[in-house]
Amino acid sequence: MKILILGVNGFIGHHLTNRILSQTDWIVYGMDLADDRLGEAVNNPRFHFLEGDIAINKEWIEYHIKKCDVVLPLVAIATPKLYVEDPIGVYNLDFEMNLAVIKQCVKYHKRVVFPSTSEVYGACTDKEFKEDESFLVVGPIQKERWIYSCCKQLLDRVIYAYGTRGHLEFTLFRPFNWIGPRLDSLYVAKEGSSRVVTQFIAELLMKRPIALVDGGHQKRCFTYVDDGISALMKILENKNDICKSEIINIGNPDNECSVKELANILKNLFMAHRNHRNDKAYSDIVEASAESYYGKGYQDIYFRKPSIEKARKLLDWKPEIGLEDALRMTLDSFLEENRGAV
Ligand code: UGA
Repeated sequence: MKILILGVNGFIGHHLTNRILSQTDWIVYGMDLADDRLGEAVNNPRFHFLEGDIAINKEWIEYHIKKCDVVLPLVAIATPKLYVEDPIGVYNLDFEMNLAVIKQCVKYHKRVVFPSTSEVYGACTDKEFKEDESFLVVGPIQKERWIYSCCKQLLDRVIYAYGTRGHLEFTLFRPFNWIGPRLDSLYVAKEGSSRVVTQFIAELLMKRPIALVDGGHQKRCFTYVDDGISALMKILENKNDICKSEIINIGNPDNECSVKELANILKNLFMAHRNHRNDKAYSDIVEASAESYYGKGYQDIYFRKPSIEKARKLLDWKPEIGLEDALRMTLDSFLEENRGAV
């Protein structure tokens, strides 16, 4: 099988590429702005990489959509701070650029495996979010955070409509707070625009305070990336077309914790880490208002738990890695990569 991955150096892209190359005989064509997260993959003869921008290399993209069997358009801005700071940038990249790719998949009759997001459920009040039942709930226009959710939701709807009319073979997957090695860089965390787990680890390393937005009562279910990639591999395999026209949550409902609990677990892991157990001081855990941390356009999501019944049934998959192990492995890898950087 030949697979095209746009955004191949991203968090999901590089983990997926490494798994594909180590476990299958598939061929991967990938594009991204850099290749620094790809490691050994860049030397693999079954991996073909172009360093470039999807906004510029349109001919390369069209040529490779024609050439490949499956397309994964993974390019997106996916950090809440940027939804608020640059909503037009989010719209242009996450919506317009990806729509162009989807239209070419329609034109050349290629299967698309598209990353939707847990964010589409927004402020849904269901105890567990179900792909084919839950309402998708967003806030007012002034709360610009929702532009990401809306862009993704509209693409989900466009893809679904092409699919149900017989013009596109697709599967949508919805990652729920995947974490793991190389989630976000120290540089991004220095700017304060990393996702929460890497933001907190980076604060601990930099000895800056950990900020609990609005008290940190919000809850998330953190999913270790290896578990997520195992589900994604089964979606790509698509045995007996089982995932055709399906939307599938990929998350770990057992790994639910509040942001405050998260801060405490990470601080304890950091304080017990071999390189830091003798540090003279550690970050304080403080509270910050959402407006002071993110700006006026932010609105939080207070809980987010996936139903994974569908993934269990269709993919015969369940997540294996518990919360503390997932956080420890993410922390260890971040500290290892950034040893001596602060
Ligand atoms: C994330 C991002 O939108 C995407 O990466 C993705 O689509 C989706 O969720 C997902 O991975 O499922 P969110 O979980 O809100 O959204 O993003 P984080 O930045 O990781 O924030 C989680 C929570 O931590 C939020 O309630 C936020 O207010 C809080 N937070 C974040 C803090 O309390 N302090 C911080 O320093 C950073």
